[in-house]
Amino acid sequence: MSWIKTIPATALEGEGVARAEAGGHRIALYDVDGAYYATADICTHGRAFLSDGYLDGHLIECPLHQGLFDVRTGAPAGAPCTVAVRCFPVKLEDGM
Ligand code: FES
Repeated sequence: MSWIKTIPATALEGEGVARAEAGGHRIALYDVDGAYYATADICTHGRAFLSDGYLDGHLIECPLHQGLFDVRTGAPAGAPCTVAVRCFPVKLEDGM
């Protein structure tokens, strides 16, 4: 596997979620108490970006209909979301 450098970890400070590009795909990155996760940015329920959502613990709330996903697994965790969002491996290296 090859790694793709995205954004500084400091970009996740405050909200705990930020948008990034990786391999031509838009992803959402999360910092949950120092553990980093990545999912596809687009919600599986509609045309909304999870990086615009609200992170509460390990749950990201979609900004459009308030559906929930577990950022650790991508699993839907609250209606109306029923389809998992894709997850990607993340590592922190040199602050990125
Ligand atoms: Fe995300 Fe509907 S678009 S919950």
